[in-house]
Amino acid sequence: MPDTVGAIVLAAGQGLRAGGAKQFQPLAGVPLFIHAVRAFAACESIARLVIVIPQDASADLMAREALDEAALGSRCDLVAGGRRRQDSVHNGLRALGACEWVVVHDSARPFVDRQMIEAGLLAVRATGAASIATPLSDTLKQAGRDMVVTHTLPREGLWTVQTPQVFRRTLLEEAHAQVSEDVTDDATMIERIDGRVTLYAGSSSNIKITTADDFRLAELMLASKRT
Ligand code: CTP
Ligand code: MG
Repeated sequence: MPDTVGAIVLAAGQGLRAGGAKQFQPLAGVPLFIHAVRAFAACESIARLVIVIPQDASADLMAREALDEAALGSRCDLVAGGRRRQDSVHNGLRALGACEWVVVHDSARPFVDRQMIEAGLLAVRATGAASIATPLSDTLKQAGRDMVVTHTLPREGLWTVQTPQVFRRTLLEEAHAQVSEDVTDDATMIERIDGRVTLYAGSSSNIKITTADDFRLAELMLASKRT
């Protein structure tokens, strides 16, 4: 098992801000979640791949059909998610066979690629937890309820974090066993149990599809890649 890598691709959200089940909405002609699954399936270091999908029969059917159509069906296992994102990760962890490292990725980020995954697998060696991140490029201001600026915050050392995030499996499992409060990512769980998280530089193209506008932006990004 040494150095075996497993991946959990999350696709069990409700997509409320996108107007419903965004993981199954088409991007460049294929369901959104397939883009991320493709990137993981193309990564030789990933030995096990679990896709977390909504807990209902029609989602299961849709996911299986989409995976088979993309010739990815034999490469991954499906498991039902939970109410919160972290519950879905937890279910993914339980379904993942033995492995030393785990990569967690939101399928809502379709531009993930092999290089981003491999860079995470290198970065994780430092502390046992690593997250892709981009340095803040906008100026950060704090304002009151009246929208009047009270402060301009120094930008130095500030990063926005995305997925993929990579963990030593035992550390991630310990974090999930101990942290029950709501968090938005797994790196935060590691911080809650006083673990250390290493950031590694990502790419501004690794956007998250949250709204219908993001689908339009992603279509444009893909079209410009093709030309
Ligand atoms: N996710 C999940 N299980 C949940 C909630 C979220 O697997 N219970 C996944 C989503 O499918 C998505 C990722 O976590 O790939 C990031 O979540 P987000 O962008 O918030 O997606 P949704 O929760 O689906 O969207 P919304 O919050 O608008 O309902
Ligand atoms: Mg959500």
